[in-house]
Amino acid sequence: MPYIIDGKKISAEIKDELKVKVSELNKEGINPCLAVILVGDDPASHVYVNNKKKACEYIGIKSLSYELPEDTKEEELIELVEKLNKDDSVNGILVQLPLPKQIDEDKIIKTIDPYKDVDGFHPMSVGALSIGQKGFVSCTPAGIVQLLKRSNIDIDGKECVIIGRSNIVGKPMSMLMIRENATVTVCHSHTKDLKEVCNRADILIVAIGKREMIDESYVKDGAVVIDVGMHRKEDGHLCGDVNYESASKKASAITPVPGGVGPMTIAMLMYNCVKAVEL
Ligand code: GUN
Repeated sequence: MPYIIDGKKISAEIKDELKVKVSELNKEGINPCLAVILVGDDPASHVYVNNKKKACEYIGIKSLSYELPEDTKEEELIELVEKLNKDDSVNGILVQLPLPKQIDEDKIIKTIDPYKDVDGFHPMSVGALSIGQKGFVSCTPAGIVQLLKRSNIDIDGKECVIIGRSNIVGKPMSMLMIRENATVTVCHSHTKDLKEVCNRADILIVAIGKREMIDESYVKDGAVVIDVGMHRKEDGHLCGDVNYESASKKASAITPVPGGVGPMTIAMLMYNCVKAVEL
């Protein structure tokens, strides 16, 4: 049986550490504040945004909520972001994605002040990460590094294979693992013989977006398996990109879904909000 990496427990630890830090900041008269913008009525986005606001409340971060209608014009959203950029009482700005189709996401991300970019999506944040400079790191990849470190899993010198090259997970994940001295391979839809490449991995990070696709045949004996996927099955249960039962036969450690990577994303968002005060 593999060691089960408990994202719920580790995220709670991080949130409790941040709570202490925020109360210390409060004593110095500093009150961290996150502005959360939600455009439209995507039900999943509403759930995510509510969870982010609840986490803020728990830690003691003030959250400002902006809920705009589905037909909001790009210029209106830009105007709001620019107003929040100028507002010194706001430390972090988060625009929940996806945005309605009339709004260019890249343009909005670029409008956010890089010093308030708590999602780590701004090209300046991504650039800083890739050349090892200070800046915000995208929350899910940062959370995965915390999962590994806080589970005492060595990264230095390990073969790390990442499946998926998205801007939010795969690409920043590769940069972070390089920073942690892993040897990194990034796989995607054009990769030849995915299985063979995955079988080299000491640490296999799966963000492929296909339900339970990665089974034991992709996993080297003793590998650490990190599952970034989240899908709902016909019976209502959640599952990931990894076939948990099957991969568990070979993995030495594995993240469950739910309760693995998922809770870490919000914990690291909160971490970035506190860091925003320092930046
Ligand atoms: N939509 C899904 N995940 C995220 C995230 O981490 N940040 C934002 N802003 N939108 C998202």
